[in-house]
Amino acid sequence: MPTPIPPPLTPADNRPAGSIRSADDIEILFGQIVRRYDTMNRLMTGGRDGVWRRMVARAAVMGGRDGRVLDVATGTGDLAIALAGAGARSVTGIDISQPMLDAAAAKVASRSATGQALAVELLHGDAMRLPFDDDTFDACTVSFGLRNMPDYAAAIAEMVRVLRPGGRWVCLELTPFRVPVLRAGFGLYFERVVPIVGGVISGERDAYRYLPNSVQHFPPANELVVLMQRAGLVNTRYRLLGGGTVAMHTGEKSWPGA
Ligand SMILES: C[S@@+](CC[C@H](N)C(=O)[O-])C[C@H]1O[C@@H](n2cnc3c(N)ncnc32)[C@H](O)[C@@H]1O
Repeated sequence: MPTPIPPPLTPADNRPAGSIRSADDIEILFGQIVRRYDTMNRLMTGGRDGVWRRMVARAAVMGGRDGRVLDVATGTGDLAIALAGAGARSVTGIDISQPMLDAAAAKVASRSATGQALAVELLHGDAMRLPFDDDTFDACTVSFGLRNMPDYAAAIAEMVRVLRPGGRWVCLELTPFRVPVLRAGFGLYFERVVPIVGGVISGERDAYRYLPNSVQHFPPANELVVLMQRAGLVNTRYRLLGGGTVAMHTGEKSWPGA
């Protein structure tokens, strides 16, 4: 069941426009951690990330199994592959990090080698300037990517631009806790435990220090809904997952004049 939307804790306008990293830093950061990226995802989510990605894929493909889907900040391609598996006619994954895209391409190729030909195309590019015409895609997804954008509202608006009217936008993202005591506990896990585990697994402890910062800067789930609505999405909903640590947001691009 979708969670009812409570009023924002603080006006969305008082929050920073985006996370603290520049596009160059993001490229370097993900280039450093790509080798162990999938392993860290499985560890940090207790293996749930695959289930969540399949939920996102079903929500995106719902009502349009024949559709063309864009996966923004596709990374190592797990969601793009899940979208193809959910019945999307074609999937385009775009990412700013070439090493992440190379890992995605290897994964897609290994599936194809085992007879599972996937209609997945991978492109290098910036989510803030998508190289597509207006109204191109039937659905657009972004998982664990929006948090890394320099301006969340502008990034959502750019994704909505390339969606056709009625097309679905689905976002999976870490979300800050609303309850202060849970927020503190979650902060402790992310600030102390994740950099140590990430450091041991990937050899890049600093890269995993970035994670708590990026979550702290990200708007809580109900405030993200406000940004979605301002970008022209309607029928906006969200659902909390992973004990309230992750949110899946959905919306549809409004029809002109509606
Ligand atoms: C945490 S990973 C998520 C990858 C994948 N979507 C997943 O669910 O595992 C974040 C991804 O966002 C990409 N990214 C960050 N900023 C971007 C931008 N401006 N344009 C495109 N990709 C971006 C990074 O390169 C990285 O691959």
